[in-house]
Amino acid sequence: MSNDTTMESKISSNETVINVLKDLTQLDIDAVFAYEQALENIHDQTIYNDIESFRKDHLRHIDDLSEMIRNYGGTPPERTRDFKGFIIEGFTALRSATGTRGALSAMETNEKTTNKNYKNALEENPNLPTDVIALLQKNYGDEQRHLSYIQVTLQKLDSAE
Ligand SMILES: [Fe+2]
Ligand SMILES: [Fe+2]
Repeated sequence: MSNDTTMESKISSNETVINVLKDLTQLDIDAVFAYEQALENIHDQTIYNDIESFRKDHLRHIDDLSEMIRNYGGTPPERTRDFKGFIIEGFTALRSATGTRGALSAMETNEKTTNKNYKNALEENPNLPTDVIALLQKNYGDEQRHLSYIQVTLQKLDSAE
């Protein structure tokens, strides 16, 4: 899957592809850790199941992004938390979160981060190969669904009070 630079000079280099994919993989790794922490505070069974399914979406994102990195000749990041990562803000909120509402509120912050990062990756790298763009758009669709579910659920919790 190496790029033919003479024929398709506009396509991003493999190095660019790998760097974009690595950043998103680390983001998804952090998101999984955040979801695990959030789940400890969620005791409503329906919401728990939905949030658990989002955690699994992120695991799939990590798998698919890692496979794509290898396809382009790179090495995917290890599945350890990036303590200097961009999602730290949401982690701090999770530490002090209590109950379902607190956990969802912290995850709203984290999902805004995942959405922003996928959006930026697509907007700032319009010359990515089509298979990479397709994967990022698919994952971004999941992130949009996660964020909107969390926001709707928070509104429901507030109006039920
Ligand atoms: Fe994700
Ligand atoms: Fe997400």
